[in-house]
Amino acid sequence: MQVNVVLNKQSSKDYSVHIGKLEKLVFDTKVLVVTNSTVAALHLETLKNHIAAKELHTIILPDGEMYKNFESLNLILNACFEHRLDRQSLLIAFGGGVIGDMTGFAASIYQRGINFIQIPTTLLAQVDASVGGKTGINNSYGKNLIGSFWQPRAVYCDSTFLQTLPKREFAAGVAEIIKMAVTFDKNFFEWLERHDLSDETNLKIAIHKSIAIKADVVSQDETEKGIRAVLNYGHTFAHVIENQTHYSTYLHGEAVAIGMVMANTLAIKLNLLNAEDALRIKALLERYELPTHYKIDSLETFYDAFFLDKKSANDKITFIFAKGIGGNEMRSDVPKETVLKALGESHA
Ligand code: NAD
Ligand code: GLY
Repeated sequence: MQVNVVLNKQSSKDYSVHIGKLEKLVFDTKVLVVTNSTVAALHLETLKNHIAAKELHTIILPDGEMYKNFESLNLILNACFEHRLDRQSLLIAFGGGVIGDMTGFAASIYQRGINFIQIPTTLLAQVDASVGGKTGINNSYGKNLIGSFWQPRAVYCDSTFLQTLPKREFAAGVAEIIKMAVTFDKNFFEWLERHDLSDETNLKIAIHKSIAIKADVVSQDETEKGIRAVLNYGHTFAHVIENQTHYSTYLHGEAVAIGMVMANTLAIKLNLLNAEDALRIKALLERYELPTHYKIDSLETFYDAFFLDKKSANDKITFIFAKGIGGNEMRSDVPKETVLKALGESHA
């Protein structure tokens, strides 16, 4: 199976997302595989057996979101210099979204930009992070605040790698799949209601469908001037939750699950979604044991934290809503009292 990411303005940047068993990859250039200690221990040997290159090098970074920083970026760049990578050389991101985002960023700035490939090993990275070219690192001011748009040359999604994924990480990826279905495709949502993603065949179908949705959105709006922002459904709330819990209580996908439920409570107040559909979304999230509730200590503090979001500009908060199941709407005009009321109900 294959999905093509067609970037309207610059066809030279188009690429394919290959879904299925990883085939032998042959390169006549130097290749540096960037991975972390967890993924290396589980899958690096398998990957190496699938790559033939002029020279094949590896850098193994420590595992964790807290290492998505300048130090790790510098380690990747130093490895590029040490192995004398040239402008024809290639980086391969082999891991979850953390490795993918950092490797992409390093590729975008090494010698003013070299090629990279994504081989995502988490469900979240396969259905979302590896496609679309958002790269970056965190700093003390927040998550993903430093980065670039730099598209990979190809993405290879092999669900075999997911067999070693912890259950919570798997569910976090399912949250992003549900996000795509709720905001873009009612039929897919209803299919998800009827099918269990622990089944390998169903999982492959869902991965394919999610990537197709994401590729279509990115094709329309590579740099998030419009429709791409819909992919952040639930995220405005999730970022506050992640920040307040110091990125240690919830996985990103878990916070997104709670965020989608919060956004839905607000969407009901704005007559964009009915209560029955909101319950269906919550039920689907809960089927995968995703959290759907967060206790807010102070509604005002929670509200103020929205302004740290990259999408908040000129004192306006942009919310992404499900408009029914399968539709979406962006709103920057929601009165503060309505938001506070919805937040109050969400945490009641
Ligand atoms: P992650 O990269 O931290 O991976 C989660 C955990 O799973 C890690 O401990 C990792 O080592 C481990 N792991 C990876 N593959 C494994 C495997 N096959 N078996 C066992 N363990 C495995 O987290 P993630 O959820 O993949 O990605 C989250 C990151 O992605 C965040 O930094 C987020 O900002 C970013 N993100 C980026 C985009 C984008 O468009 N670029 C989209 C969504 C998220
Ligand atoms: N994950 C959101 C985006 O890629 O735009």
